Amino acid sequence: MRSPSPIDDGVVLLTGASSGIGAAMAAQLAPRVRALVLVARRADRLEALAAALRAAHPRLVVDVEGADLTDPAAPAALVEGALRRHGRLDVLINNAGMGDIGLLHECPEDKLLQMLQTNVVGLTLLTRAALNPMLAAGRGAVLQVSSGFGLTWAPFFSAYVGTKHHVSAMTEALRAELAGTGLRIVQLCPGPVATEFEQVAGNPTGQRVPAFIELSAADCAAAGIRAIDRDQAVAVPGLAAALGIWAGAGAPRWLLRLAYGLAGRALRPRFAGKRALPLSADHGPTGR
Ligand SMILES: NC(=O)c1ccc[n+]([C@@H]2O[C@H](COP(=O)([O-])OP(=O)(O)OC[C@H]3O[C@@H](n4cnc5c(N)ncnc54)[C@H](OP(=O)(O)O)[C@@H]3O)[C@@H](O)[C@H]2O)c1
Repeated sequence: MRSPSPIDDGVVLLTGASSGIGAAMAAQLAPRVRALVLVARRADRLEALAAALRAAHPRLVVDVEGADLTDPAAPAALVEGALRRHGRLDVLINNAGMGDIGLLHECPEDKLLQMLQTNVVGLTLLTRAALNPMLAAGRGAVLQVSSGFGLTWAPFFSAYVGTKHHVSAMTEALRAELAGTGLRIVQLCPGPVATEFEQVAGNPTGQRVPAFIELSAADCAAAGIRAIDRDQAVAVPGLAAALGIWAGAGAPRWLLRLAYGLAGRALRPRFAGKRALPLSADHGPTGR
């Protein structure tokens, strides 16, 4: 029989809680956990969310951590802070992340660096920092919010695809490495979700994702939380998106190369020279 979920009455550190999937996860976790440590750069948004959660769940402790995960010192400081205040850390949810849509050679260098540092370096350092206390306790969970692009790929997302392959492959390897320790190492690999993601990633063509494929942030968040409860290695939420993602993940590579190569040739002119506006300044010191 499976042990109780580390979410229940647990201390949960959740990154990227200021919007989208992370904010939805915070709301769904609130009735179950003892303490939530909410992390993002926009601390004002976290404060507003924390106030609403405290009002709805008077026994819940909510910490607000306005931190930038591109800072290599941030991950260890976040884990140390949670341990100091709560004496333990039961669940880490690495949800913070950003994307870029367009031609890699036209991507501004600061945006590229920010994406690599957040999606790859910050996530990896935070995972490493959280594992020691969890291993000492003999229980805990890490949920990595990867992407369908962690399991397959597509043109015009190349650097983002690379970051999510890092997340997905590392998570599978880590799950094997820690098998039998009592820790749950799981990942969520969604297709398109209605959040601020596209606003940050840019949408050079203005093409909309068909509504039947796009998931709500709440449904996506619920799938991630379920993955922890069930110790499910990989969760791909939403039937339509899951069919596409698993087909891409399972298709022979030569076939994908052919199909995506044709798509790349045909669509490249629609992306060329159509970079979105510069990063907005209200997303922290380096923009986002
Ligand atoms: N939406 C999709 O279609 C989709 C699909 C597959 C996977 N995902 C993944 O889902 C995760 C959540 O994205 P979302 O869709 O909910 O997008 P979102 O609404 O833009 O949320 C992204 C969150 O990450 C935080 N964040 C970004 N950079 C950060 C940094 N340097 N330091 C700290 N926090 C940072 C943002 O907070 P601040 O700006 O306040 O710092 C925000 O809370 C990401 O990892 C994304 O790659 C999204």
